[in-house]
This record gives sequence, C-alpha cells and structure tokens, in this order.
Amino acid sequence: MARNPVSESAPRAPTLVRRIHIDTDPGLDDLLALGLALASPEVKLEGITTVAGNASIDAVTENACGFLALADVEIPVGRGAAAPLALTRTDAEHVHGADGRKGIALPVQKKRRVATARSVLLHSLRERRVEQVVALGPLTNIAELVSEEPTLLEDIEIVWMGGTLSGGNVTPLAEFNAYADPGAAARVLSSGLRVRVIGLDVTKHVRVRAQDLPHSPFGASPTARFFEAALRSLMETEHPLYGEPCAVLHDPCAVAAAIFPNCLRYESKQLEVRVEEGRERGRLMEQTATRGRCVEYAVEVQSAEVVRLFLDRLAAWSGKLSSN
Ligand code: RIB
Ligand code: CA
Repeated sequence: MARNPVSESAPRAPTLVRRIHIDTDPGLDDLLALGLALASPEVKLEGITTVAGNASIDAVTENACGFLALADVEIPVGRGAAAPLALTRTDAEHVHGADGRKGIALPVQKKRRVATARSVLLHSLRERRVEQVVALGPLTNIAELVSEEPTLLEDIEIVWMGGTLSGGNVTPLAEFNAYADPGAAARVLSSGLRVRVIGLDVTKHVRVRAQDLPHSPFGASPTARFFEAALRSLMETEHPLYGEPCAVLHDPCAVAAAIFPNCLRYESKQLEVRVEEGRERGRLMEQTATRGRCVEYAVEVQSAEVVRLFLDRLAAWSGKLSSN
C-alpha cells in the first residue's frame, strides 16, 4: 500500500477542514474515537447523535454529554434510537459495563436538554453541510434517515465501523454493530449511497497493549486521565485472537479512516446482511456485484500507523487541556 500522511501523526495545518458528524453508542472505544476526532485538525465535529448499542440509549447519551463536558467542548448532541428497527435489543455490557463506561467517572449531565437525533442529524446535514457521517454503532438512526430523507445523504459519505467477512465478535459469524441491528445495516448497505465499511477484518489488528502505554501517556488533565482509564479498562479483557490483554481500537480506526482514507485499502463489494433472528443474525455475505449497490469495504490497514496517530494525537490534544 502506498505510504500516506497517517505516518506523520503530528497534525499539520490542514488545507481544507472537512466537516463531519458522528453517530455513536458510547462505549469506551467510541469515546476514544470522539477524542481522536476532536484532536484532529483535518476535521470539524459538527454534531453527535447517540444510538442504543453497547449500553442503553440513556447510558450512551449520558456518556456522550458527560465526555463533552469533561473536555469542555460544546457540540450538539441528539438522542437516537433506543432499540433496533426489528428483533430484540442486545448490548455489550460485558465489555463496557451497564453504564457504557465500566464505571469510569464522567461529569453527570442530567439537566442538559438533549435534542432528538433526527433534529441534530438534519442540522448537521442541512445547516452545517457535513461531508461525512461516521457511524460507530448500530445503523438504526442512519437507516431511518435513509428511509425518511434519502436525498439528504446523496452527497455525503457514510463511514461505518461494522460488519465482518472473517469471523465475528458476538457470534462466530457476526460483528456487534451489524448483529445489534441487521435490518438497519441491510437498508444502509443496499441503499446505493456512498458507504465505506470498516469491519472487524481490519479493526481487530488496531490494538494497544499495556507495553505500548507509558505511565500517564496523555498527560495529567481529567480528559487525559479518562483516556488512559478507558484504554486500561479495555485491556482488562484478554483478546481471544491475541491471547494477551489489549485494547482493540475498533471505533478510533473508523475515525482514522474518515480522516486518512489511505491508511486502509478497500475493495468494492456488494454485501447482503442476514436479518433474521438465529445463528446467522448480522452476518455479512458478499454477493456478485450489480451496478450501484456496492460499498467500499476495508480489507487492509496500516495498523501500527493508526495506533501511532491515535496515541500521538490524543496525547497532544489532552496535554493542552487544563489539569484542574
Ligand atoms: O464490534 C465493535 C463495535 O461494537 C464497536 O463500535 C464497539 O463500540 C461496539 O459498538
Ligand atoms: Ca461503538
């Protein structure tokens, strides 16, 4: 793969700042991904919408608002779907805890009035003219927009962390975000819209081990301490693939892909999603491509470069934040 700017992880003054929106189910890796977006001068985060996934819609919305309060950043947050379009709701509380953040402290934002996901997505698309929607959880909110306002998404790119063609992490066949709402994934992936899929095939290689993390890697600010606690919490579960504790950066990899598309290699694929309950729920199946229905599917990643970019940018950004 050709070398790309990812290897120069120190942010350079960007020529054009791309406006993005993030739809997310925070979740510890989601919050680290939000940190990478905020730390990257190439993009401007115009809006955040939440979707039930790793934890309940209340928990993930509270985490998004709490993280922005911790980082002292003002960005519109919209509360989204509490359940998938169909089928039973599932969660990843065994990884992220019932509160979606494994008990790691965040400022409580109970009083903050939260708009609807629809209103914040429409604001990001119509008023802020975002160019990318980066989806880090189940695609329920995006699928509803595809049905209700399809023309609004025609000129933007959807970058989704989800799916797998090489073994799952919820079942042997399905990745969590696809499993959680397979109907939504099927609707978005077959919409004909510009979609880039960053699946487990590549994100499973983007991981941080304890030996990669010096003491206080991000500095002494409350945000820096949150990032470190989140990474060390994710490391606690021994990763079945590597047989050693490591934090797999699924969602930060998708944000890195949005900022530096060249840090991954893609193939055009037409994908079907198994939407029925049962052994194959959420499985992605490659089809013989017919015109207009393909997505760009990530098949290779410069994992060391993405990890370096992630660690350097979070350290540089959180190191600048006040320590009180
Ligand atoms: O399979 C990994 C994905 O599921 C990540 O987005 C993680 O946050 C969970 O939502
Ligand atoms: Ca997620």
